Amino acid sequence: MRPFDPKALRQAFSVFPTGVTIVTARTADGTPVGFTANSFTSVSLDPPLLLVCPGRYLSSFSVFENCERFAVNVLADGQEALSDRFARFGGDRFAQIGWWDEAGMPPVLDGVAAHFLCATHRVIPAGDHIVLMGAVEAFERSDRRGLGFAEQTYFSLGDAGRARHYG
Ligand SMILES: Cc1cc2nc3c(=O)[nH]c(=O)nc-3n(C[C@H](O)[C@H](O)[C@H](O)COP(=O)(O)O)c2cc1C
Repeated sequence: MRPFDPKALRQAFSVFPTGVTIVTARTADGTPVGFTANSFTSVSLDPPLLLVCPGRYLSSFSVFENCERFAVNVLADGQEALSDRFARFGGDRFAQIGWWDEAGMPPVLDGVAAHFLCATHRVIPAGDHIVLMGAVEAFERSDRRGLGFAEQTYFSLGDAGRARHYG
């Protein structure tokens, strides 16, 4: 193994701009769990696949490692507080926020830019994380734009003075 400084590596990874998601699931007794993740990637259209990488350090790690279903909630511009809550808050993260509560289904949060309901397709061990790949069973997008994140900083696509449409 190379003697990389993990902090320097993390900072180098962080220059890659991403969106922000909250990944949710339920424990066996139905308790909702969720964490903020920017490791979301779309993988395939046919079949429809996506992935996210839960860390082994998560208090909810075993739930995500063993879940049959999970949801990826793509945060909208302005939902920074929700991102902070699902990254840091130690209490009930689902108290006092709006979310769609259907028995047996992973929570879908109000006001998100898009959400994807997934059946677990593959769980691949990957160092201190796992790659959790999901087959998309349902999805919805709103007219809201996604929240951006780079170098530990949230940004808005509306702020992007030099934004240029691809193509
Ligand atoms: C913008 C952002 C992106 C994050 N991305 C990930 C990620 O992709 N995977 C992960 O395991 N943790 C990620 N984290 C950290 C987790 O959200 C955080 O460690 C987790 O919510 C802690 O939950 P716990 O207290 O239940 O263990 C991210 C945090 C932030 C603020």
